Amino acid sequence: MNEKVIFIGGKGGVGKSTTSAALALVRAKEGKKTLIVSTDPAHNLGDIFHTSLTHEKEQLTENLWGMEVDAEEESKRYIEGVKQNLQGLVKSKMVEEVHRQIDMASASPGAEEAALFDRLTAIILEEKDDFDQIIFDTAPTGHTLRLLTLPELMTVWIDGMLEKRKKTNDNYTQLLNDGEPVEDPIYDVLQKRREKFEAVREIVLDESQTNFIFVMIPERLSILETKQAIEQLHQHHFHIRDIFVNKVLPAHADGKFLEKRREIEKDHLAKIRETFTDQHLVEIPLFEEDVATLKQLEAFSSHLHRSMTQEKG
Ligand SMILES: Nc1ncnc2c1ncn2[C@@H]1O[C@H](COP(=O)(O)OP(=O)(O)O)[C@@H](O)[C@H]1O
Ligand SMILES: [Mg+2]
Repeated sequence: MNEKVIFIGGKGGVGKSTTSAALALVRAKEGKKTLIVSTDPAHNLGDIFHTSLTHEKEQLTENLWGMEVDAEEESKRYIEGVKQNLQGLVKSKMVEEVHRQIDMASASPGAEEAALFDRLTAIILEEKDDFDQIIFDTAPTGHTLRLLTLPELMTVWIDGMLEKRKKTNDNYTQLLNDGEPVEDPIYDVLQKRREKFEAVREIVLDESQTNFIFVMIPERLSILETKQAIEQLHQHHFHIRDIFVNKVLPAHADGKFLEKRREIEKDHLAKIRETFTDQHLVEIPLFEEDVATLKQLEAFSSHLHRSMTQEKG
């Protein structure tokens, strides 16, 4: 779990944000410069650190920075950027029409995800040399998978566009430019975008640079869902190597009711060990209280640290 880029995924409520924050704290305490990024529309990273986070990174404690990226906001910012870039490129009486077209494109399905993906790409490429570790606290499974497979789709799409433009440009070259290649700023923009996607894809698919951690709880549905999600990611060449099994009843929890639950949980834990043989499992106990204060987060974090090192041996 020392890779440069870590994605933490799983269903809502299982403890993604808590474990992301705790892992980030572990790293920061080790003296590693760490960035934690929430991409879950249901952001709660800021709450965990008792501060409000924005789309720009802010320092949380020694060695630790955090930010929350929002698809809708990114999309808006992205569109504004495109409009600004077009100023000067388009004749002034065309501006209104072009803006109308851009606004229409921005309302199309997938536009927000594409903008979010562009931002994640930028974060990974721009921050990877400056940070020892970047931890992404991601949205529930389906969303994350789409986000991760987006570069594949976008690359295919961009390739199509590039091909088309190349043909047009070649025609112009022949007809108008005496065989001299024509300059095409849009072709260059698309080409650059493609290169960025390629670069990020290489990092994300490289197991020495990127790790995917799943968070689950010892319950029947969570086991089924996690198994499915891992298989799905596997098909897209993303391999989950670590699982945090969170909220495991601690041995000292007493009472008849809990005893009964622990008995059922024992079966679930056995099933988890049997099902996820390719993954390294880290058990995290259920705490008496929610992990709400910074002090509780610190305690959770040292617990996680201990479990991580224990399981290694
Ligand atoms: N091991 C644990 N013991 C007790 N409470 C926990 C534990 N892990 C997480 N929680 C609590 O469960 C709730 C959901 O956790 P959270 O990290 O926000 O989940 P997610 O980000 O996956 O939606 C929070 O109130 C958190 O404090
Ligand atoms: Mg969360």
